[in-house]
Amino acid sequence: PELPYAPDALEPHVSAETLSFHHGKHHKAYVDKLNAAIAGTAYEGQTLEKVIAESHAAADTGVFNNAAQAWNHTFLWHSMSPAGGGAPAGPLADAINSKFGDLAGFRDAFKRSALGQFGSGWTWLVLTAEGLDITNTGNAETPLSDGVTPLLTLDVWEHAYYLDYQNKRDAYVDAFLSNLINWEFAASNFDNKRAAA
Ligand code: FE2
Repeated sequence: PELPYAPDALEPHVSAETLSFHHGKHHKAYVDKLNAAIAGTAYEGQTLEKVIAESHAAADTGVFNNAAQAWNHTFLWHSMSPAGGGAPAGPLADAINSKFGDLAGFRDAFKRSALGQFGSGWTWLVLTAEGLDITNTGNAETPLSDGVTPLLTLDVWEHAYYLDYQNKRDAYVDAFLSNLINWEFAASNFDNKRAAA
């Protein structure tokens, strides 16, 4: 999929150079490798979510890693917005306050989780049967495999921030939480899941 905004739309927090490599090279490579891997197999023509579930169950890591990374990155682009930052509204805001005390409590917990991920991976706000939670996944892993509903994510692979922040993951996480986080996307995922339930 195309980016939902121009490559320079997230500047200065994520540079056009980072976004062009991240979307045009990294994300594209996962999609291209997935398409090559599933050609002529039972996966071909399935939804991406079904390919993720079936390759995960079969420990078919070559397919799973590329399928999950294709999905995770599309979800990431929507988790950021040029008009991001600020605070959630509506039922999601109530759930954030109930779980984390207030928005500052959420930010502290999300940042602690993102900085605690050793090596490559992802930090997620998810909706479980018990309510909101923050979780990390390593490498290509996705919370879809755990039966929970992702609400938003941040990519903490170095390729997501190294050109702009070098080794300073904490500054990248701060920039995301203050300026980019797309609360409307998270609220839409939250409301859709609750309506379905
Ligand atoms: Fe990435």
